[in-house]
Amino acid sequence: MTDLTLLLDRRLLRAKGDPLPRQRRLYELLRQAILDGRLPAGSALPASRVLAHELGLARNSVIHAYEQLAAEGYVQASRQGTVVAALPDRRAVGSGHAPLTAPPMASGQPSPALSNRVQAFNRRRTAEQDLMPFMPGIPALDEFPLPTWRRLLNAAWRDQSPELLSYRPAVGELELRQAIATYVRAARGVVCTVDQVIVTGGTQDSLSLCAQALADLGQRAWIEHPGYGGARVACQAAGLKVVPVPVDEHGLAPTKALWRQQPPRLIYTTPAHQYPLGSVMPLARRLALIEQAQAAGAWILEDDYDSEFRHDGPPLAAMQGLVPGAPVVYLGTFSKSMFPALRLGFMVVPASLSDQWQGALGYLVRRGLPAEQAALAAFINEGHFTKHLRKMRPLYAQRQAALRDALSRHWPWPGEVLGGACGLHLVLTLPPDIVDIDAAQAAMKRGLSPRPLSAYGMGGATPNGLVMGYANTPAEQMESRVRALLRAISAGLAR
Ligand SMILES: Cc1ncc(COP(=O)(O)O)c(C=O)c1O
Repeated sequence: MTDLTLLLDRRLLRAKGDPLPRQRRLYELLRQAILDGRLPAGSALPASRVLAHELGLARNSVIHAYEQLAAEGYVQASRQGTVVAALPDRRAVGSGHAPLTAPPMASGQPSPALSNRVQAFNRRRTAEQDLMPFMPGIPALDEFPLPTWRRLLNAAWRDQSPELLSYRPAVGELELRQAIATYVRAARGVVCTVDQVIVTGGTQDSLSLCAQALADLGQRAWIEHPGYGGARVACQAAGLKVVPVPVDEHGLAPTKALWRQQPPRLIYTTPAHQYPLGSVMPLARRLALIEQAQAAGAWILEDDYDSEFRHDGPPLAAMQGLVPGAPVVYLGTFSKSMFPALRLGFMVVPASLSDQWQGALGYLVRRGLPAEQAALAAFINEGHFTKHLRKMRPLYAQRQAALRDALSRHWPWPGEVLGGACGLHLVLTLPPDIVDIDAAQAAMKRGLSPRPLSAYGMGGATPNGLVMGYANTPAEQMESRVRALLRAISAGLAR
């Protein structure tokens, strides 16, 4: 019997009523043992065949658990087999060195004229543009199982009694909160009870609520730069002072000086898939961020907007579940996994806050849509949600591959493709003589909607490039769309 099998409580692998598959359970047990130091750096894990035999599991279950741990940086393959990785240097972030930026940021501030054009461009966004090829963040709308949804929605309305037409709980319908709690625990490694789950009108709504409820007027909110404009607007509207924080190839990269000089109350971040540049925040950076936020008395807002669609392995576990009691509010949305018009999302708030939220929320929002919430709970509980995700993952991987292929064959200008480990978009950098906002405007005239990277700037320069959504464009149309885009840009350059 190996030391590891003595250390793992085998009863936990077989807990009755546990919805997690065994391999996920084993991964969770090993991850916890590494995080709390029971499995110190350098310990060799037993060969997968040996552990499988001792635990009575299929060997593939052990292999998958090891692979997931390796993908997240907990273990690494060596000549001795699979070995626990050196625990992250928690001072890796904030060591005062200049953040590496990928792609390189242009130096200085954007000119006032360019800033005005970017603002005007953002203001002119319309519902028609959202349907054009390359608009980021729009899922494959015609692949959504509408007949099933219609049936569940009709059934939900049929079942509504008159009492359900009164004011509904501000935290959302219990049935949906339970379905969400079960899903995020199993699929995202979130550690929570149903009391911590609050249904919202999507992540934008969650961000506004957090900005109002977790910070006082004038306190600082750190926002990734470049980053999600909705987070900035929510914080500004709540009277917070927005501080842009650069990102590098590992995501949010605050310096030691920034922690000292401009300590935050809120930290908005997209660790699973930095929006828009696409980096994935490694374990070391996540742990360091949690530790530093704790020391600063700050709340981390973890926006997990499209992590269901990881293309190079199973989705990485959320930051929320990494450290017990971490000051993390987990934000999830159904806009990408279902459809944006649904306007349903959720927050998982820390246990220490759930009573406070339950009390305060009724004054801030009136939550309704009991039939949509009931239909969504049924969609999840009856397995349609996971079935839809299982169908969408390979579809999006195929569409991304088609976009990469079309770019590699037809794109005439130097540029780098960034991101793609996850989600629904890629970033294409542009040479300096093609200004991204000009390219996006030329594209718009031809019915195409890539977004200029400069539109994601939070203050300070941004890289020059295009953010290109691929999820709502069939693979067979990708080549003609890319060619139309380059014709639009070439025509714009010739003028
Ligand atoms: C980074 C990011 N977070 C969240 C969302 C989703 O917001 P919502 O749930 O309000 O639709 C988006 C949508 O575009 C996004 O890009």
